[in-house]
Amino acid sequence: MTRGPSTPVGVFPQTRMRRNRRWDWSRRLVRENALTPDDLIWPVFVCEGKNRTEDVATMPGVVRYSVDRLAAAAGEAKSLGIPAVAIFPATPAEAKTPGAEEAWNPNNLVCQAVRTIKDAHPDMGVMCDVALDPFNSDGHDGIVRDGHVVNDETLDALCRQALVQVEAGCDVIAPSDMMDGRIGALRKALDQDGHDRVLLMSYAAKYSSGFYGPFRDAIESAGFLKGESKDTYQMDPANSDEALREVALDIEEGADMVMVKPGMPYLDIVYRVKERLGVPTFAYNVSGEYAMLRIAADNGALDYNRVVLESLMAFKRAGCNGVLTYFAVDAARLLHDA
Ligand code: PBG
Repeated sequence: MTRGPSTPVGVFPQTRMRRNRRWDWSRRLVRENALTPDDLIWPVFVCEGKNRTEDVATMPGVVRYSVDRLAAAAGEAKSLGIPAVAIFPATPAEAKTPGAEEAWNPNNLVCQAVRTIKDAHPDMGVMCDVALDPFNSDGHDGIVRDGHVVNDETLDALCRQALVQVEAGCDVIAPSDMMDGRIGALRKALDQDGHDRVLLMSYAAKYSSGFYGPFRDAIESAGFLKGESKDTYQMDPANSDEALREVALDIEEGADMVMVKPGMPYLDIVYRVKERLGVPTFAYNVSGEYAMLRIAADNGALDYNRVVLESLMAFKRAGCNGVLTYFAVDAARLLHDA
């Protein structure tokens, strides 16, 4: 992929770069990257209740589904060729505690959602987030002691959380908490319990980002976090070498796939990870990135269909194998119509 200084560049007028661009057929022939529904993972929000959807105010067009609506929603994604969904619960406030015990309740919203989707669509991939923030009355991804998110005690909680998700039928465990050692701990816990086929997708280079704002509304954790930052566990946006180290550690601990998050403002990180480590690399096109394009398009500033496909292609160009994106269903539909 990397082209050295010896690459022939040609000289005008013998060389005219526009020649290849003249026709649709010639543009298609020289196209370097492709985006297909196979590249998409659709994050889905789940809420309590029956036969209902709830709007997410800061993400127009995105809804939370009650569990009984999930099979149909996932079925639509599947029929468009989307390989997998990722589940995120909006846990009712009364189930949130400082110990986040609801995370390993085998009948919590996530587990109900996984069972429902796998029953209806056994051949669809189902991914679960592992982190305590939907269940923690402190709004943090780990357990808080004396004002600090503690690492090793959180690891035990994450393992318990992952085991109930896997027992419900989850195919891919995706820890997003950024505790040290979690990939190794999860791999061990899963293997000891006979789940050596379950995949681990690590949120390996996850930055402490303002772009997660709308997501925290969607899972209703923002009010619990009370403006505190996640800077003591998520990465500093100023860092890039550190991302390579995070990813390398997670590979060593047993990650099958790695993720960079957020997406669009961090494509340089995706590029470096893919170039350097050559592992299956994903990015999360997060809630704030969705909101930016969606709200701008709703206000007439952008052509929604165009910017969605252009943005997702940028992920492919940077080296992503796939993208978690709230645009997944719309994008798959556009790709089919194209
Ligand atoms: C929680 C988690 C977050 C996202 C996925 N899992 C938010 C956070 O770390 O606060 C963000 C996804 C998005 O913004 O779309 N561990």
